[in-house]
Amino acid sequence: MIMPRVLFVCLGNICRSPLAEAAFHKAADDAGFKAEADSAGTAAYHIGMAPDPRSIAEAARHGVDISRYAARQITNTDYITFTHIFALDQENLRDIRQRAPHEATALIGLLLDVVPRRSNESVADPYYGSAQDFAATWRDVDAAAQSLVSQLRKTPEFGIR
Ligand code: 4NP
Repeated sequence: MIMPRVLFVCLGNICRSPLAEAAFHKAADDAGFKAEADSAGTAAYHIGMAPDPRSIAEAARHGVDISRYAARQITNTDYITFTHIFALDQENLRDIRQRAPHEATALIGLLLDVVPRRSNESVADPYYGSAQDFAATWRDVDAAAQSLVSQLRKTPEFGIR
């Protein structure tokens, strides 16, 4: 049985994907499920920076400390070292597919496709929004994390269309 290694990818890796990573770690821990997770951005703007303070606060409300996460950009080796790569929105999905190296092995999918009745939906970018928008981001990524953990527990190699 393989251990899933899941990468969550948004634009800047400071707002949405750190929350997706945090929600996934929490859901996996709560379920006693062993999986690795990380997050990255398609853009280089924020490399090395901590998450947005509003994301740090939202994760803390749910008991997860993400203050020491550091933003990074997706690399070619990510497509091989991770078993699954999940895009937070449709634009991220296009970018991830476009820059995939030929030797890529990871399954690439849209995060909310793992949530029943939310196929094709993007997790909205809260960057120009308020704390309420970050709370909405958490609800989206937490729903996805719960679904993902339960599906991976059943079928670690489950495919994303
Ligand atoms: P993220 O949010 O992709 O969820 O990390 C954003 C962060 C930074 C910018 C846009 C979105 N930006 O334009 O700098």
